[in-house]
Amino acid sequence: MKDPKGRTVIGFEKHVFVCENKRPKDHPRHCCSKKSKYDLKMLFKKELEKKNNVNVRINSAGCLDFCEQGPTVVIYPECVWYSIKNPEKDIPDIVNEHLISGNIVKRCLIKL
Ligand code: FES
Repeated sequence: MKDPKGRTVIGFEKHVFVCENKRPKDHPRHCCSKKSKYDLKMLFKKELEKKNNVNVRINSAGCLDFCEQGPTVVIYPECVWYSIKNPEKDIPDIVNEHLISGNIVKRCLIKL
C-alpha cells in the first residue's frame, strides 16, 4: 500500500480507536457504550467499506479516559480526539473529511 505521497506503508496508515468500555449503570463516570444506541465501530467500518483503497484500521478500545465527553474516538498517528454525539452525521464526516481528505472535523473535537 502507498500513502498519498507515494511512500510504501507497512501495516495501516491510520488507526481509529473506538471506546467500547462498559461500566455498571450507577458508575459515576458512566461509559461510552451506554451513551449511544449505535455500534460506532460497525458504523465506521461500513462507512469505510464505501471507499476504495483506504488503509485504515478500526479498533475497539477500552476506556480512553474522556468518559464524560464520550462516546470517545481517537485517531492515530494524528492523535486527534473526537466525541461522537451524532453518529449518523459525525461518522461519515470523520471518514470523508479526516480519514480520506486529511481535514480535522472541528465540531466533533473533544474539549480539552
Ligand atoms: S468509557 Fe469511554 S472514554 Fe472512558
